[in-house]
Amino acid sequence: MTIETIGVLGAGQMGSGIAHVLAIAGFEVSLMDVDADRLVAAVAKISEDMDRQVARGTIAAEAMLSAVGRLRTTVNLPELGTLDLIIETAAESEPVKLKLFDDLRPHLKPEAILTSNTSSLSITRLAGRTRKPEQFMGLHFMNPVPVMQLVELIRGIVTSNETFEAVRAVVQRLGKTAVVAEDYPAFIVNRILVPMINEAVYTLYEGVGSVFDIDQSMKLGANHPMGPLELADFIGLDTCLAIMNVLHEGLADSKYRPCPLLVKYVEAGWLGRKVARGFYDYC
Ligand code: CAA
Repeated sequence: MTIETIGVLGAGQMGSGIAHVLAIAGFEVSLMDVDADRLVAAVAKISEDMDRQVARGTIAAEAMLSAVGRLRTTVNLPELGTLDLIIETAAESEPVKLKLFDDLRPHLKPEAILTSNTSSLSITRLAGRTRKPEQFMGLHFMNPVPVMQLVELIRGIVTSNETFEAVRAVVQRLGKTAVVAEDYPAFIVNRILVPMINEAVYTLYEGVGSVFDIDQSMKLGANHPMGPLELADFIGLDTCLAIMNVLHEGLADSKYRPCPLLVKYVEAGWLGRKVARGFYDYC
């Protein structure tokens, strides 16, 4: 199956980044969200990021104009019914994703492929709630999507080869590099990255270093582009906590226990950059 039309469910930072790169690669993209304001904000962010790419010479001005022309937004789920591929990018919560799949089920065309950008949840379990589990798989992008080269491909236990190859071809057309991860909690990148962030939060919690010194240590001492606490703010502390919980429950190992300070910040609503408050204050 060749994919030309793609629906992106959810216009948060991942959904808008994915819509951005798909439109530039020539796909017809429908970005769907129940919140019309979020769609407006997503389109503004996509235009701002594309403008920046044009200014730096990464894409031509004409390419940007045609990409914008291939991108439409909608608040109506049934409008995704004619599309070849759906990429779900809702919050990292299993009940939220399952409800979306239930709502989507009556509208999808028979050959449509459904994917989730989940960063940690079981693909096999999510697939079980879809109409055709063999036409479902994990398609996990990294943030910021226009910059990060990697995409993780995750098969559920019954994902068909046709589904896998069609989705792999989309990633190739984006010019990104695909890795194949087995369907275990948090796959590859987040299995390694998020416990590192959690350990940085423990380092702060136990008073080993300040926010500045922890981030500075990892930037200058390990050559990371961002310190782990800055990166946690960038990813979203709620997402980091959700991933730690999936690792803790899914692998039943106390080494994945979320740091109480991370839990406290999430309870306080200090979710990072998206609310202008996390380990840093962005006001
Ligand atoms: N859209 C388009 N281009 C963007 C962009 C965006 N949203 N954000 C940055 N860029 C581009 C800039 O235009 C610039 O391009 P050139 O090199 O061509 O000039 C380049 O990226 C670098 O940007 P900046 O100079 O503005 O800033 P920087 O050098 O500080 O880099 C960063 C910013 C790319 C985010 C860098 O700090 C970085 O790589 N951080 C780590 C990000 C990371 O680890 N991501 C993975 C998170 S984990 C994840 O996503 C998985 C999950 O499920 C949680």
